[in-house]
Parts: sequence; C-alpha cells; structure tokens
Amino acid sequence: MAALNSKTKIAVFISGKGSNLKNLIQKSKLKKSKYKVYLVISNKSDAKGLDYAKKYKIKNYSIEKKLSIFEKNALKLVKSNKIEVICLAGFMKILSPDFINKVKIPILNIHPSILPKLKGLNTHERAIKAKHKFSGCTVHYVNEKLDSGEIIIQKKVKISKSDNPKNLEKKILKLEHKAYKEALDKILVFKK
Ligand code: GAR
Repeated sequence: MAALNSKTKIAVFISGKGSNLKNLIQKSKLKKSKYKVYLVISNKSDAKGLDYAKKYKIKNYSIEKKLSIFEKNALKLVKSNKIEVICLAGFMKILSPDFINKVKIPILNIHPSILPKLKGLNTHERAIKAKHKFSGCTVHYVNEKLDSGEIIIQKKVKISKSDNPKNLEKKILKLEHKAYKEALDKILVFKK
C-alpha cells in the first residue's frame, strides 16, 4: 500500500496532441499536487503527446494494436507500475467492460461538451450547428457506456455568434486544463 503522504500514481492514456497530458504533468510538478504522472500510454505511435512524456522523463509506451491487445498490454503496465488512477486525455478508443472491470481502479475521462449533451465526436461543430448558447467540458468516471459515467466536474463557456469549431475548441481546451486538475484534486481530497 502507498504511504499516506506519497503522491497518487496516475497513468494517462492518449491518442493525439496531448495538451491535457502536458497540463497534468505541469500541475503534478507543483509541490502541493496530490498526484504524479507516472506512466503514459498511447494507442498511436506518432501521438505528439508522447514527446511531452519523453521531455519530462515519464515512462511511456505506444501500443498501436487492436483493442484487445492494447488492453492486455495496458493492464499489465498499469498493474506492474502500481497505478492508482487512469486519466483518459484525448484517448480516442472506447475501453471494453472487461478492461474496466479488471483494472479495479478509477478511470477518468475528459470530454469536450457539457454532458449529457453531445456525447461522442465533433462536439464543437455540433454545438454550433445546433445553436447552443453554451458549451464546455466534463470530467467524469468511465463506465461501460460511452460518456455516461458519474460526473466529477463541468465547466462552461458562452458560444458567441462569431465562434467556429476551431476557436471554440481552443476556448474549451483552456477550460479542460483547469477542469482536469480540479477533478483530480476533488477525488483525491482525503489524501494527505
Ligand atoms: C480534448 O478536447 C478532449 O476533451 C477530447 O480530445 C481532445 C484532446 O486534446 N477528447 C474526446 O473527444 C474524447 N471523447 P489533447 O490531446 O490536446 O489533450
């Protein structure tokens, strides 16, 4: 068992550019942070996010295989590194119920909409098309259903008439970076 004052070991699963990963790494370096990014796993070997893991000397792996093989390998890494929380950050695969049951630790995901609105992909384009007044992001626990687990934190922003999917994405990414840190602080609140 981890010592009471040790930082919670988190693994971050990514598929792409990794701005949320970078932000989690930077926040974890703060003295008062309750977590440390201990492991990064990508399902894409060319994910830019892997560069941040390398830069900050964090153990990193890319497993560009079909889901069952990805999960088998990821599970081994999570267990052997004694990871306590998994954070999905732009991880574009849907984890199987089997993985979720076997891993036996909390899995968090960040999603670029105010759930339960706009589950799935292309949320910014869909928010603008549907003339929503607000959009934002949600950090939630992962369960067997897509974007449906218990919500930990949400942040919202007004959509203005001049917004397009690209700049809305930028605005929301800024919120995501705050939200992920706050969500971890919230779930680790009792950790000394
Ligand atoms: C983020 O906007 C995240 O919310 C989204 O992918 C982006 C990844 O950005 N995730 C999903 O859509 C998951 N369904 P990042 O690689 O810069 O962190």
